[in-house]
Amino acid sequence: MTSIALIGFMGSGKSTIGYQLASQNHRKFIDLDDEITKFEGREIATIFAQDGEEYFRHVEEKILNQFSEANVIVATGGGIVMNQNSREILKNCFHTIWLEVSYNVVENRLRLDDTRPLWKQSKEQRQALFERRQGLYEECADMRVSVNERSPNQIATEIEGSISFI
Ligand code: S3P
Repeated sequence: MTSIALIGFMGSGKSTIGYQLASQNHRKFIDLDDEITKFEGREIATIFAQDGEEYFRHVEEKILNQFSEANVIVATGGGIVMNQNSREILKNCFHTIWLEVSYNVVENRLRLDDTRPLWKQSKEQRQALFERRQGLYEECADMRVSVNERSPNQIATEIEGSISFI
């Protein structure tokens, strides 16, 4: 069975939905950020601060690749689509689902967040990052699901209804 990857901007609910889908369908759930943290032995903010985004994207790609044939459900980090190699892996090796969220919903969900290095920027920069990524999510996605104002249950049910092999 093909591995499933959930993509989408920070705060779109990739980990929540991924965990739910995996437990309801007896598949293993992988949170890519957690795997990176384990592999590196340091927090994501520390990796960004010490080695920069480019290094982080390289590790992210390597770990994504490790799960491409593992028959798992992977919640990716919101910026994974910034790396062309990762986009190729998502397109060629996963059934990739884009959790599409509006910018305002993200602002609201992450208003108290201070853990994500790329969220700690001006609102203009955050919005530009959001806009820049939309086409990249679209490029990689086999399926897109709107998550605005919907519960994790509703979203998981829509996904399950569209994927016969889950
Ligand atoms: C990032 C999103 C984060 C994490 C890192 C970079 C991004 O994951 O990978 O902070 O560039 O959007 P979430 O999407 O799970 O917050």
